[in-house]
Amino acid sequence: MDRDQLVGELERVIPKEAIVSDPDLLEKYGHDETPDLYREPLLVVRPKTTGEISSIMAFANREGIPVVPRGGGTGLAGGAVPPEGSIVISTERMDRIMEIDPVNMVAVVQAGVITGKLAEAVEKEGLFYPPDPASLDACTIGGNIATGAGGANTLRFGTTKDYLLGLTTVLADGRVLRLGGKNVKDATGYKLIPLFCGSEGTLGIITEAILRLLPLPRKRIDLLLPFPDLHLAVGCAVSILRADIVPTALEMMEERAISYVETYLKKKFPFPKAPVLLLIRVDGDDEKALMEKAERISDLAEGAIDCFVAQSPSEQRRVWEARRAISDALKSKGKLYHEDIVVPRGRIPDFVPSIHELGQNYNLEVILYGHLGDGNIHINLIEPDPERLSLFRCDLYRRAKELGGRISGEHGIGLIKRDYLNYCLDPEVIETMRVIKEALDPKGILNPGKVLFFDQDKTNGRF
Ligand code: LAC
Ligand code: ZN
Repeated sequence: MDRDQLVGELERVIPKEAIVSDPDLLEKYGHDETPDLYREPLLVVRPKTTGEISSIMAFANREGIPVVPRGGGTGLAGGAVPPEGSIVISTERMDRIMEIDPVNMVAVVQAGVITGKLAEAVEKEGLFYPPDPASLDACTIGGNIATGAGGANTLRFGTTKDYLLGLTTVLADGRVLRLGGKNVKDATGYKLIPLFCGSEGTLGIITEAILRLLPLPRKRIDLLLPFPDLHLAVGCAVSILRADIVPTALEMMEERAISYVETYLKKKFPFPKAPVLLLIRVDGDDEKALMEKAERISDLAEGAIDCFVAQSPSEQRRVWEARRAISDALKSKGKLYHEDIVVPRGRIPDFVPSIHELGQNYNLEVILYGHLGDGNIHINLIEPDPERLSLFRCDLYRRAKELGGRISGEHGIGLIKRDYLNYCLDPEVIETMRVIKEALDPKGILNPGKVLFFDQDKTNGRF
């Protein structure tokens, strides 16, 4: 079916204004934030309701047309890049916060709500939505659910999956699954919500969610600790984790990441020349207890050169703005290759310092930053040599597996890590995933080519 025919068919099932077919407007839907991946979609639809998505899916399934859902387009694994000849379902017009329920402490939202906007809206009610991906000003709740997104707050508060009480998902054939609700407990049948969380658009289209909220902590302190080398910074992180302090966030940044951010934001950062910085947040309601916690952390920071305590909201905003901009700052320096490995926390001292050694083996310069406290490290190389990179990558994945880690902690598999899934998952596990995919999407129209190979895949695994 060509574009004009498709427009004609879709106009019968959804309102005309929801269809985008102008090639100039299609461009921005052809990529996410993953470098070098682009394909123009056949068509984009911007529905407003679950019902409209249901009609689109029933039609696409009948015709065997691939469909890819799209939130904020901030993905880093190519998950939202359109498969050949596909319809993109953008959730940008599904941006309603339908309810903030302070008694049950939940928010009911459409999938296209921007994560940062939800966080602000619930804060006004004295409530807290913890998951905070670095892209929170642009990413959406639906996209966060689709990738199982995390963020800096994961250390203490967990990831998106830990806040999902209810989920509405449209299946490949247009049927609508309404899962969960506002209950904090639910032992009624199989747990299907976690199956869709992290399924990257390959099992269903997420359209609405009921999200658990927490009371908003009243106080917070951010500590910035510069270290002369990575070993000392890692040692400090491990001492803090073993001391059972559980900060809200424990982030790490290497010097080049910081200096690129300074240039990118045109702002100065404390300790720009420190080889490694740890950024640690603690929060709570009791100011005295919080101060004690911060003091304990600085006592444990053996080898730290200094300590900057950001207590005012403007100082805190400044350090976190810089932390969140690292990925964009690195991208502005050239074609960025990015990894998102996670290892169990106890293996951080074995894994993190060895990443540079692996880089040296292939004469590649690696820049590290990320969620050190979670064992989730973002490993970056700017314009690396492709052949040496591919050897480095295989060694890195092998090393992560040896330590019981995974090739993605929060960005997902998408297109760019699909061929490496077997590096950390047994064949039986991948096969079980295929069985689930086949049961839910027998024609292989839901985001084909992503996460795993699938025989019915409309793109035959090609990009
Ligand atoms: C971050 C994103 C890239 O932590 O996950 O900055
Ligand atoms: Zn991250």
